Amino acid sequence: MEYLKITGETNLSGEVKISGAKNAALPLIASTILAKNEISICNMPNVVDINTLLKLIDKLGGTFKKEEDCIKVNTSSLNKTTATYDIVKTMRASILVLGPILSRFGHCEVSLPGGCAIGQRPVDLHLKALEAMGAQIKINHGYIEATAPNGLKGAKIVFDKVTVGGTENTVMAAALAEGITTIVNAAKEPEVQQLCEVIKNAGVLIEGIGTDTLIIHGTNGELLDFKDFDVIPDRIEAGTYLCAAAITNSKLKITNVMPLHLEAVTSKLEEMNFEIIQDETSITVIPTDEIKPVNIVTSEYPGFPTDMQAQFMALATQANGTSTIDERLFENRFMHVSELLRLGADIHLNGNIATINGASGTLNGTDVMATDLRASSALVLSALVANGETAIHRIYHLDRGYEDLEGKLSNIGAKVARFKE
Ligand code: EPZ
Repeated sequence: MEYLKITGETNLSGEVKISGAKNAALPLIASTILAKNEISICNMPNVVDINTLLKLIDKLGGTFKKEEDCIKVNTSSLNKTTATYDIVKTMRASILVLGPILSRFGHCEVSLPGGCAIGQRPVDLHLKALEAMGAQIKINHGYIEATAPNGLKGAKIVFDKVTVGGTENTVMAAALAEGITTIVNAAKEPEVQQLCEVIKNAGVLIEGIGTDTLIIHGTNGELLDFKDFDVIPDRIEAGTYLCAAAITNSKLKITNVMPLHLEAVTSKLEEMNFEIIQDETSITVIPTDEIKPVNIVTSEYPGFPTDMQAQFMALATQANGTSTIDERLFENRFMHVSELLRLGADIHLNGNIATINGASGTLNGTDVMATDLRASSALVLSALVANGETAIHRIYHLDRGYEDLEGKLSNIGAKVARFKE
């Protein structure tokens, strides 16, 4: 296993180019199952989760070719319908092939994703939506077995909770269904919006994109004619580097971003007393005399993203005062707290609310363990300001979602290196 060693108390400077969004690219790759043609997708992040999904496409009988940051995916030869345990256990987002495979082939089997480090994460809402569209679903020997012998039919689906993956799976299933599907209380995340736009450009009428009601006019089994496209920039990678600037109180410019997608994040940085300068595709953080504490409640887009909660907790350890973070989406997304305590942070947990006392501000480098993707990035951020060396173990979590983390950090002046245990 590999680990990162970071020597802290560095000042960062320069620019970071943000990669394509992992969480947009995953459903977009799954959506190619609905296509009759080869599709070229560019601005594709080079991260492990993307490679895992491409491996699944390959196992299902599709093909892909990589050329720099583009991939050409062709699923016309796809002839298998089972996402097996060996893949799903390494990446829950494999569930995203359920909707498109079921709507194209009339049946699909996906290993039931288990719990994970941030919570139980059931997929009941995905399954209920597909059942409302006429699917019959059984859980058998740890597999979701879905069949729709007469095809999927448009239906009205009311989600009782906003679900990103559930909305994406339903949109993909509805694209080839017979008739109109209405999704009420749909997710509005930019990643969901891009999926809808791409499917719309492939010939499916979708109304209400970017709102909480989506109306999808299915093609009744006719495969789609996709256009080539670029993946949107990764707002969470961008937010993480904005926090790298803030925690080290450095001037840093983040490029290849869509500032609109980051408003909840940049407004919290402003509340913490950082000046933020933006143009159409970049954001610059300007250092401050005093980092102020902040109160954060995570919520669905356009609210403050749960995927930025851990990074802001690291930042709050440097604030002059007491901050609070209220995690509302996942029941167990505070695994980073005990690791931050090992670095000397003063954090108290009460249920889903963390109180961070930033007054002392000093973190001391030591060995810490990454537990999930965003928790790991909080440890990297903390290590940038901790005195001495911090060794971050189990960094395979970081490799799942941050492209060339060491390269990008080294370019802006961080002292970071990767070693084998
Ligand atoms: C997506 O996960 C992201 N993953 C997550 O990013 C992100 O944290 C999350 O959305 C919330 O923004 C991808 O896009 C691949 P949800 P997803 O369904 O779709 C509950 C990262 O670090 N729920 O919106 O799985 C669920 O337990 C990852 O990049 C049900 O109860 O999230 C949670 O409490 C981690 N039943 C809430 O809804 C269901 O059937 C929101 O989950 C589905 C979800």
